[in-house]
Amino acid sequence: MNVHLDEMARQVLRDNDRGGCTVPTKGLYPYQWNWDSAFAAWGFATFNIDRAWIELETLMSTQWPTGMVPHIIFWKPDPSYFPGPDVWGGLYEPASSGISQPPVVAILARLIHARDPEVGLPRLRAMWPKLLAWHRWWRECRCTHGVAAITHPWESGRDNCTDWDSAMSRVEVADIGEYTRRDTGHVDPSMRPTKEDYDRYLTLVQFGRDCGWDQEEIVNNGPFLVADPAMHFILIRAHRDLAKIGQMLGEDVSELETWADDLVAALPKIWNPDLEAYDALDLRTGEFSGTLGSGSFLFWLAGIEHEQLEKRLMRAWDATSYGIPSTDPEATNFNPRKYWRGPSWPFLNALIALGLRETGRLELEARLRKETAELIEKGGFWEYFDPIDATPCGGEHFTWTAAIWLTWASPTANGD
Ligand code: SER
Repeated sequence: MNVHLDEMARQVLRDNDRGGCTVPTKGLYPYQWNWDSAFAAWGFATFNIDRAWIELETLMSTQWPTGMVPHIIFWKPDPSYFPGPDVWGGLYEPASSGISQPPVVAILARLIHARDPEVGLPRLRAMWPKLLAWHRWWRECRCTHGVAAITHPWESGRDNCTDWDSAMSRVEVADIGEYTRRDTGHVDPSMRPTKEDYDRYLTLVQFGRDCGWDQEEIVNNGPFLVADPAMHFILIRAHRDLAKIGQMLGEDVSELETWADDLVAALPKIWNPDLEAYDALDLRTGEFSGTLGSGSFLFWLAGIEHEQLEKRLMRAWDATSYGIPSTDPEATNFNPRKYWRGPSWPFLNALIALGLRETGRLELEARLRKETAELIEKGGFWEYFDPIDATPCGGEHFTWTAAIWLTWASPTANGD
């Protein structure tokens, strides 16, 4: 059964391969997505190491001169997705969106390198200046307030999670004209964000496009600037992993270490004592979101220890049966099948598990792996799942779910 699933997972990756880059799934997401692509590379590394590096190289080749690596790259027009390249008005070729996504490349590139250091070292050496420039962009364009911020919910990758609800409710919808969504034609609309969400997503895109993706303007005057705990933890970890890569290459990594240390020092700014957790902070109003999302669970990945937080998170996890819920099941707005408002996401479970394993929480890591494996064994390679009854949700034949089956969830995998 599991050997069969391993082969099916490899087939998902091959089917979604568009030659040098992999789409998350056809129809719903027909382009290259930034962090999906990094997970695809990790998956490829289990059976085709060269293809794994090509995936990362293709992604990094789309870097803007500013250092930003876009969140969607529109290699070939595809009417099955909205909003496409014209709406975004990205500034460079290939056509792309104007925002980024959590920089997991350095984290996963280190794991891919470890699988075959001889092949990996020259690839990393060639990629190093680009990775460093991207991490500098994060520092200069998204850590202006000391904490890791996002300028669009899509930048977090956790689009409609409850973390952004209050900040999004303050975004005044601009004159965005008529538009037709495509996502709701591919999957059950009740599992997707609402029209009110999309009106605001498009308002934020319009603001960026109208100012020519001027980062100073977006950060200083844009309608949305929110500190994201998940981004904060991922950046700490990514800076540290890139520093380790740099050390291996004989590069000066002092800046990266400072950037990571500064983010650790800034953590008290996003600690919400009422929630007993790290929380999204609206940097325009100084208000916390007051809701517990899956972002806090990434603190292990950043190597942070926090007993009180751990207790709080375990309460949320214990309330479900299949992995980490993307919103606290005790919250009134918890919705177990609606995208980032409740479902369990296998790829995020894998990232959280990396932190559990490295901080020595082996029993918790084994539990998370078992629960995630059950989702895939029961349902297949879906985008996300109901964390209470394991119902498959969103898109199917999904790249990152197949990738983490091969790297971590399958009994034949070893998680590195
Ligand atoms: N995840 C977004 C979408 O659903 C874009 O990044 O289209």
